[in-house]
Amino acid sequence: MTKKPAYEELEQKVKELEKEAADYRQTVEALRKTLDYLENLLNYANTPIIAWDPDCIIRRFNRAFEHLTGRKASEVLGTCIDTLFPEDQRDQAMAHIVRINSGERREALEIPILGADETVRTVLWNSAILYAQNGKTAVAAIAQGQDITERKEAQAASENLNRELIKESEERKRLSKRLIELLEKDRQRITRELHDHVGQTLTTLKMDLEMIRRGIRPTDSSLKERVKNATDKVIQSIKEIKDVAQGLRPSILDNLGLVPAVRALLDEFKHLMDIEIHFFTQGLPERFEPKKELAIYRIIQEAMTNILKHAKATEVFVNLVKNNGMISLSIEDDGIGFDQKKVTAVPGGRDRMGLMIIRERVIQLGGEFSIESRIGGGTHLLAEIPF
Ligand SMILES: Nc1ncnc2c1ncn2[C@@H]1O[C@H](COP(=O)(O)OP(=O)(O)O)[C@@H](O)[C@H]1O
Ligand SMILES: [Mg+2]
Repeated sequence: MTKKPAYEELEQKVKELEKEAADYRQTVEALRKTLDYLENLLNYANTPIIAWDPDCIIRRFNRAFEHLTGRKASEVLGTCIDTLFPEDQRDQAMAHIVRINSGERREALEIPILGADETVRTVLWNSAILYAQNGKTAVAAIAQGQDITERKEAQAASENLNRELIKESEERKRLSKRLIELLEKDRQRITRELHDHVGQTLTTLKMDLEMIRRGIRPTDSSLKERVKNATDKVIQSIKEIKDVAQGLRPSILDNLGLVPAVRALLDEFKHLMDIEIHFFTQGLPERFEPKKELAIYRIIQEAMTNILKHAKATEVFVNLVKNNGMISLSIEDDGIGFDQKKVTAVPGGRDRMGLMIIRERVIQLGGEFSIESRIGGGTHLLAEIPF
């Protein structure tokens, strides 16, 4: 009588155990699947992942890491991590590893990695420590890297390029300064020569002629007339030379400053062509840096000469304004305009230097220059110069 219940009880127990075992198997199976999944994830992740134990022995080395280094996981697993670093930076890299091992969490740490072919790649690392269940004993360190070699190289290249560009632009500035100095010197030399040599010669020639005239017999009126004509021509030449010399070195600029000098210049152009010139100026101090005054004067002079020579304009607007620490100079005509591409494409030479020199003058003063021109649509020059 007592045997049956005991037997049934036992059977019941066995059933329960069997169920427990099945549950257990299921859990193990699920765990295994999860592990496989994680394993795959780690292995096939496309960022290099490595794990090492507290003795710095490599325990994990995924495919991306194989790809990064050109080494097989089978070669490196079980070896010390230090062989992954280039020799000259090994101590430094190992110092990082030791600090990671001691529990320091490092983010975006740059450690170079040595490839099987001896190439060194720059890798940015994030790392973490894996602890045992007690939460205290470190069992492994895991790190995930990002190969930034190309990025670093591109960055270095762009820094290099930048440095070169700066050097080039400094060189350009130096050259353009030199060019403008030469130009002004040339003008000064011509002015001086005109005055000293040709001017003097003409003056003595004039005196000679006057003496001859006085010596001519009063009856010889035709000769007297011819000598008078010659004298007039000489006087005219002396005046012309004076004018040219003045155009070359505007003494009005030195004496009265930029705005009156520009007014006088524009008046001269008004006499040379049948054109309306509107000049507007505002905010400029009476005197400022002579170099800037001269540059602006020359730019207006060249631009107006271009209008005289090329534009066939009927109206010109010249604006010269100082505002917010900038001098802005704008010269706009309603003439025939030109094709900027064609004109700027003309390689250097003695001709067609005007616009280039304007640009150089503006750059020289740290400013910016632009031209807008369209065939049939007039021309607009704009220079912005820091004051
Ligand atoms: N205001 C303008 N209107 C029409 N064409 C112009 C004007 N300014 C310049 N150009 C054109 O641009 C060219 C280059 O000007 P520039 O460099 O001063 O050289 P250049 O005056 O010696 O020809 C000129 O030959 C002309 O064709
Ligand atoms: Mg010109």
